[in-house]
Amino acid sequence: MLIRPIAAGDDEGGFTCGVPTLDRYLAKHARGNHDAGIARCYVLVDETAVPARVSSYYTLTTRTVAPTMVASLLPGRLPTYPLSVIYIGMFAVTNTEKRRGLGTTMMRDALERSLMAADQVGATGVFLDSLSDDSTTFYARLGFVPVGEPMSPQPMFLPMATLRQVGP
Ligand SMILES: CC(C)(COP(=O)(O)OP(=O)(O)OC[C@H]1O[C@@H](n2cnc3c(N)ncnc32)[C@H](O)[C@@H]1OP(=O)(O)O)[C@@H](O)C(=O)NCCC(=O)NCCS
Repeated sequence: MLIRPIAAGDDEGGFTCGVPTLDRYLAKHARGNHDAGIARCYVLVDETAVPARVSSYYTLTTRTVAPTMVASLLPGRLPTYPLSVIYIGMFAVTNTEKRRGLGTTMMRDALERSLMAADQVGATGVFLDSLSDDSTTFYARLGFVPVGEPMSPQPMFLPMATLRQVGP
């Protein structure tokens, strides 16, 4: 198993994670958006299969959030203007590979890349929108904290300072 950027010829067709929008994104938009620099997409593939079969994927972009959203998790005085964060827009594991630790492995990879990015450009933390109670449990186990009002999807945040301290 290998984690790498999505590439031409990857087999995304059989990917089914239970959330149709995430399946459709991988099948139709992931590579085009990756190549265009709109959202970088990383895949976990079994390279012994030809073509390489995708078991899991995630996307990374940047976005901004209102300081009030994350203020309780950041020390010191904050600007009043929106804060930059690394954003995990899509995150999924295919049904047949769930509960084997692949999601955890993929998240550690995403957090490592986020730390590297934050060494070069300002980003106060990693942000995502959790789609379900199950995924909120999964993300909370990895250090993400629900922010804002309880809502669905639930915004969650992991401060970069925490990530630097404890590691991905
Ligand atoms: C959420 C998801 C990414 C987890 O991937 P995974 O590879 O199954 O996760 P892991 O095996 O690394 O799980 C690690 C731990 O997270 C928690 N966890 C994972 N899936 C869970 C679930 N469905 N319900 C409750 N807790 C869960 C458990 O504590 C688990 O440890 P355990 O298996 O020893 O009990 C995967 O279920 C998925 O793709 N779901 C559908 C798409 C989705 O909801 N994506 C998130 C969009 S925001």
